[in-house]
Amino acid sequence: MEKKQINIIEVGPRDGFQSVKGDFIPTELKKEMIDLLVDAGVKHIEYTSFVSPKAIPQLADAAEVSEYVLSKYPDLDLMVLVPNMRGATNAHNLGVKKVCNVVSYSASHNKANINRTHEESLNAYREMVEAYPDMECVLDLATTFGCPFEGKGGKYQDPDAIMEFLRPYKEAGMKTVNYCDTIGVADPEQVKKVIRASQEAYPDVHIQVHLHDTRGLGMVNAMAAIECGVTDVQTALAGLGGCPFAPGASGNLSTEDTVWMLNESGYETGINFSKVLAAAKYQVSKIPGNYSGHHITIDKETPCCF
Ligand code: COA
Ligand code: ZN
Repeated sequence: MEKKQINIIEVGPRDGFQSVKGDFIPTELKKEMIDLLVDAGVKHIEYTSFVSPKAIPQLADAAEVSEYVLSKYPDLDLMVLVPNMRGATNAHNLGVKKVCNVVSYSASHNKANINRTHEESLNAYREMVEAYPDMECVLDLATTFGCPFEGKGGKYQDPDAIMEFLRPYKEAGMKTVNYCDTIGVADPEQVKKVIRASQEAYPDVHIQVHLHDTRGLGMVNAMAAIECGVTDVQTALAGLGGCPFAPGASGNLSTEDTVWMLNESGYETGINFSKVLAAAKYQVSKIPGNYSGHHITIDKETPCCF
């Protein structure tokens, strides 16, 4: 039987690097990490953000990284995060074909993260979809499952309310939605309910998931989504990541752990585990940060003895 393909979308160079405090990560090292990911077989990469360098100083070299990646890997599925029209325009001018426009389901996190009301965010999305029909605008729905300021009750437990929130985005032309658990509070049942509601309300909208591993549930949440039919899962090398504007936000679902889990479970990722693990360990040795990956602490040569 043919193996089911799961697309790993690597967001480490964006979500991971944005969370690194202290010394600026040299641009050459960023390029090197992307090269290692590609060499390991990663074909989908969110490689930077076109945001204010005051908000995210680590990604102030977005244009340079972008030029490098776009010219070196024209055939890969490459994307960048944008918070507003200015970011979308900057990306478009450099030839970016896919942007991920972030809006938080939580009004308070939307304000803390991008200083916008829901209405302003929706207007910006409409504007970019209209202005750049040649550029795909994925909608990143941050805090889908819970918010650092509002908790995870009420509207976070109401998949129909989430779908209603998305309706004007769908009407504006949304083709892909990325359900993000920004602070890692989702549980598998909550994930399944949201995915099923999305499939029912918007059957032609492609679904991605972005599930932080803050409480150790990233993997089971990803598996819950996959069992509902989701084929696109975002991960970050060595589990680095977290939104600087969401208090307590930490580690991502790690790429190497997810690749291991999927390869062992009979899925096809197209990613070489040994290579991606080596890349993760290399990154840990070069870039200090808040890592949540499990395999980075396991020696590859350690035999399994059971
Ligand atoms: N790229 C680069 N610079 C930008 C920008 C963009 N997309 N959008 C705005 N700016 C600059 C403005 O030029 C201005 O610069 P100045 O202070 O030197 O004049 C400054 O940022 C503030 O602009 P303003 O439009 O008033 O924005 P703001 O202060 O309301 O901030 C954002 C809004 C969205 C620009 C800012 O909050 C941001 O970039 N957030 C990033 C959020 C993020 O990446 N979070 C993690 C991922 S979920
Ligand atoms: Zn994230």
